[in-house]
Amino acid sequence: MIEGGVRLKGEVTLSGAKNAVLPILAATLLTDEPCVIKGVPNLRDTNTMLKILRALGKNAELNKGIVTALPNKHISYIADYKLVSTMRASFCVLGPLLGKLKKAKVSLPGGCVIGIRPVDLHLKGFKALGAKINIESGYVIAKAPRLKGNHMYLGGTYGSSVLATDNVMMAATLAQGVTVIESAACEPEVVDLAEFLIKMGAKIKGHGTPIIEIEGVKYLHGAGHTIIPDRIEAGTLMVAALITKGDILIKNVSFQHLGALIDKLEEAGAWISRTDGSVHIRFKKRLKPINLTTLPYPGFPTDMQAQMMSLMTVTPGISVITEKIYPDRFMHVAELNRMGAHIQREGPHAIVEGIRGLSGAPVMASDLRASACLVLAGLVARGKTEVSRIYHLERGYENLEAKLEALGAKIWREKE
Ligand code: EPZ
Repeated sequence: MIEGGVRLKGEVTLSGAKNAVLPILAATLLTDEPCVIKGVPNLRDTNTMLKILRALGKNAELNKGIVTALPNKHISYIADYKLVSTMRASFCVLGPLLGKLKKAKVSLPGGCVIGIRPVDLHLKGFKALGAKINIESGYVIAKAPRLKGNHMYLGGTYGSSVLATDNVMMAATLAQGVTVIESAACEPEVVDLAEFLIKMGAKIKGHGTPIIEIEGVKYLHGAGHTIIPDRIEAGTLMVAALITKGDILIKNVSFQHLGALIDKLEEAGAWISRTDGSVHIRFKKRLKPINLTTLPYPGFPTDMQAQMMSLMTVTPGISVITEKIYPDRFMHVAELNRMGAHIQREGPHAIVEGIRGLSGAPVMASDLRASACLVLAGLVARGKTEVSRIYHLERGYENLEAKLEALGAKIWREKE
C-alpha cells in the first residue's frame, strides 16, 4: 500500500548487486575449499541460489550479509527442474559443474514474462569447449571428459548475453588451454564475477571488454570477496527522488556503473552530484521528456526501462522508450495506464504522453522491475495505490519499502 504525494528526503545505503551475487555463489562450486562472500543481499533469489547449492551438496548459509560456502565430500551434477524453474539465473550452475565435474544435468529454465529467453548462446559456448550437449526431458545434459579452450563468438540477435558470458567463463577456468570469448558481455556484474574467479586462482584477462581471455588452470582454491553495490537499486532510488520532487543522498554507490542512466536523468533535468562512494540527486526544476533505447552495458540498462517509464508518465511532453533487449518487456504499461497514464505501445516502442498526475489504484506486479515501476508510480499518485504480487519485488530488492519509509514515504504492507 502506498499513499502518494510525499517528497522523499534523506540518506539511503545500497545493498549488494543481485545480478553479481547469483553467478558468484554458483562459482563456489568450482572449488573444494571454503569461500566467504560479503555484502550479500537477503533476497528471494539469493535464497533460491543457496537452496540450489545445498541441493547440489554444497554447505552454504547466509548470515547477516555473509555467505560461507563450505566444501562437501560429494557434489551432485544434477540441478533439478523444481528449483531451476523458479529462477532463470540458476542455469548458471551448469558452467561450474561442467568445469569441475566434467558433467552436468541442469533443467532448462522455464518461460519468462519479460520475453523469450533462449539459452542457445550458453550451449554454443559449452560445445565450443568440447562438451557433448543433449537436451532430454527438459534437461540439458552436458558431458566433457576433458574441456578444451577455444576461440568463440557469443554475440546473439540482441547482442551479448550476461549469463552466457558468466556460464562459459566459469567452465573455461578449468579447461585445458586458452579460451577467447568474443562479443562477451561487459556488465559490471560480469567483471565482479571475473574478479572473484581471479581471487580463486583463475587466469582471466579482458573482463569488462567485449573480448575475454581465460587460460585454464588445474585447480581453483577458496577465496573471499565483497559483492559490488546494486546499480539497478541505485537507479530505482534515483527515480524515486525525482518522481517525488525530492532530495536523496545514496551511499555505497559505484557511480562509474551508472553512466548511461545519469546521462538520461541529467538530460531530463535532474541535478546530480557524484562523490566517491555516493550519489546525491535532487529535483531542481520541471523535468523534460526524453527518448531512450535499452542496450547492453555500457548502454542504457533494460532493468531500468520500467522505472524510467513511470517517471516519464508524469513528465509533460512526449517520450519514446525503445526496448532492444527484450522487445516484449512492457507488462507494466497496462498497469500504469490503469493509474491514468497515457502510454501507447508500438512493437518495441512505448510512446509516453506525460500528464500532470496519476491516480492511485489497485495494480498487479508481473515481474521484478515492473513491480518497482508500480511502487514508484504509487509514490507520486493521488490517493492510495495497492500493489499486489509483491513477491516479485522481494526477488531483487532488499527491504525496499523500509528504505523508502526511512526517506519519508507512506508505504506499508497489508495481507492480500
Ligand atoms: C541478465 O539476464 C540479468 N539477470 C537480467 O536482469 C538482465 O535483464 C539481462 O541480463 C540483460 O541485461 C541476471 O544477471 C541474473 P542476457 P540474462 O542473456 O543473462 C538473448 C533483472 O531484472 N539471449 O544478457 O538472462 C535474450 O533473450 C533481470 O534483474 C539469447 O538470444 O540476459 C535477450 O534478448 C531480468 N540467447 C538478450 O540475449 C541466449 O543464449 C540478453 O539476454 C541468451 C540470451
